Amino acid sequence: MESVLVAYASKHGATAEIAERIGQVLRQAGLRADVLPTDRVSDLTPYQAVVLGSAVYIGQWQKRAARFLRENEKALAERPLWLFSSGPTGEGDAAALVQGWRFPKALQPIADRIRPRDIAVFHGALDAAKMNWFEKWMIKNVKAPLGDFRDWDAITTWATAIADVLRKMVSPAPGTGPQ
Ligand SMILES: Cc1cc2nc3c(=O)[nH]c(=O)nc-3n(C[C@H](O)[C@H](O)[C@H](O)COP(=O)(O)O)c2cc1C
Repeated sequence: MESVLVAYASKHGATAEIAERIGQVLRQAGLRADVLPTDRVSDLTPYQAVVLGSAVYIGQWQKRAARFLRENEKALAERPLWLFSSGPTGEGDAAALVQGWRFPKALQPIADRIRPRDIAVFHGALDAAKMNWFEKWMIKNVKAPLGDFRDWDAITTWATAIADVLRKMVSPAPGTGPQ
């Protein structure tokens, strides 16, 4: 059975729950999936595919996720890889809310080399009770809407598409596999 790693970096928990949902969808599709914060992953050898996501803060991925991408570039390039950023709050298309931004510019050269299958942007959640004073001040300044805007249907659809690709890799339809 294919084993998939869903690795994530989350500061206040919203991205962790997105990663958990992705793992759940993959498992329901019959795959094995480990959902782990990036700093708890030391070896990619057991995994045939990776999904990596991070919360976005001031246009950047969490440092732990960026480090994970950098330090595992070679292993990630050898596996099917999907990336996601989670952040924008408010109604409407997530990518439109961040003007088409998908991924930090500083990490783009690595993504260009690794060539992920996809880079998704998902809505995030802003909970005032979890933010420190600086975060609250920042969010007030940029007038980002507070609340949980995570789009579970979009996340489920994306994860289902990943499961479809991986299942086809394990058991290609008759006539489509290597001859
Ligand atoms: C100080 C601060 C800065 C943020 N900057 C961005 C940003 O630049 N782009 C974005 O899309 N979301 C931004 N967000 C929203 C977060 O990415 C969003 O709340 C996300 O769901 C947090 O995930 P986490 O709970 O896993 O840490 C910011 C939030 C805070 C508190």
